[in-house]
Amino acid sequence: MPLFQPLVRHLKSPELFGTIDRLPCLGTSVSQRTFEVFNPSTGELLAELPDMGIEETRAAVDTAFCAQPKWAVLTARERSDMLWRWHQLIVDHADDLAAILTAEMGKPLAEAKSEVSHAAAYLQWYAEEANRIYGETISAPSTDRRLLVIKQPIGVVGTITPWNFPASMVARKISPALAAGCTIVLKPAEQTPLVAGAMFALAHLAGFPEGVVNLIYASEGDAVGRELCANSKVRKISFTGSTEVGRLLMRQCSDQIKKVSLELGGNAPFIAFDDADVDAAVDGAIQAKFRNAGQTCVSANRLYVQSNVHDEFVDKFVEKVRHLSVGDGFDPGVAIGPLIDRQALAKIESHIANAVAKGGTVQCGGNRIGKEGTFFQPTVLTKISRGMTVAQEETFGPLAPIIRFEDADQVVHDANNTIYGLAAYFYASNLKRVWRVAEALEYGMVGINTGRMSSEAAPFGGVKQSGIGREGSRHGIEDYLEMKYLCMGGI
Ligand code: SIN
Repeated sequence: MPLFQPLVRHLKSPELFGTIDRLPCLGTSVSQRTFEVFNPSTGELLAELPDMGIEETRAAVDTAFCAQPKWAVLTARERSDMLWRWHQLIVDHADDLAAILTAEMGKPLAEAKSEVSHAAAYLQWYAEEANRIYGETISAPSTDRRLLVIKQPIGVVGTITPWNFPASMVARKISPALAAGCTIVLKPAEQTPLVAGAMFALAHLAGFPEGVVNLIYASEGDAVGRELCANSKVRKISFTGSTEVGRLLMRQCSDQIKKVSLELGGNAPFIAFDDADVDAAVDGAIQAKFRNAGQTCVSANRLYVQSNVHDEFVDKFVEKVRHLSVGDGFDPGVAIGPLIDRQALAKIESHIANAVAKGGTVQCGGNRIGKEGTFFQPTVLTKISRGMTVAQEETFGPLAPIIRFEDADQVVHDANNTIYGLAAYFYASNLKRVWRVAEALEYGMVGINTGRMSSEAAPFGGVKQSGIGREGSRHGIEDYLEMKYLCMGGI
């Protein structure tokens, strides 16, 4: 049994997920090496998995390459039916998937359940979207010709998913690829491979033909990533993670001009203007900042609050933050789980130290909880200025730095003054201001009077160095399709 008791005790169907170290869609480990997966809340060992590398990745790509034409030739309805079956199995086993997710990643169980239903929603969306891949006819420049555009699957897709949303990112990448007629090789993050494995176990039950979905477990992603980029049978890479790794993958793909979809880092501004509903803005800021303990690419990273409402906002916000309870994600009422590792703790501490040294004030929090583990108090800093690290770099943790501002044009300029362009949020009520600010923010996604905007129905993605491509919505499937122009002469 590769799953150990600290995980098994949370599961309703341990026998179903107990096989995730030897799934038919899993590459065969050549080295016989293994790696361990731990619960970040308790330090308990959850599972031991085969550790794979270049050779296994190459074999998985070969399998996906052989399967791809047979998958692409099915009707859209047949591919859609398979996605529906997978969707239904995920819904049926949602409690187990959420428990696995909380155990390996730490997020509160309620958030894990919401993530699993978001994952299921992507499968549902792209089961529907599979049937809506349209081409075009174009008015020809001469009467003896007909011009058409058809859409075809891009081929084998290599996907690398992150630890912060280990279920929904798998679904968000795989489901449009499969709907389009691509086959995939997926490498989940080494910290959180178990929920991906459980989803693949359900994909196997759904009956995907051999070779359509392929999984690689690896304790180190570099070799797998390099192989996926270098292997000419892989036609596209889809990656969610840091901008630094995204740059590296893009460089590695450049030799073959391989297509990439990249969802990378952010440094999201959250702006509360003086015409905002302050209570709603406070609630929105709590959600945008503290969901997943601040470990989301779209987390509000810098909170700008206009002078007239600054003090009221800070008082109400700090009061709510003080009541966010931190602990093991399985404990009822916990709002903030552990951080993913000790490096994440060290980063928050260094951001706080830098801000305090330059005149920032800690309004609440500011410390680790306990000597073991990776729990950190939700923290609010005020008197923050532009030169501080917190105003410039993504923290990826439960730290909210508040910057007072006077001038509405200047704040938009400051919000845009970053290499990133993933998500931004603002609260305002004046309609003219709402339009002007929404249009002026240089971000792929803007939340207006809301602290949360992820949806399978909407295009998720960034501009500038936050990425390339969009996931979700009807646009998400286009990233897995090639356009082919047909010119018919002699008519
Ligand atoms: C992320 O990609 O970090 C955010 C995903 C989400 O909001 O669902």
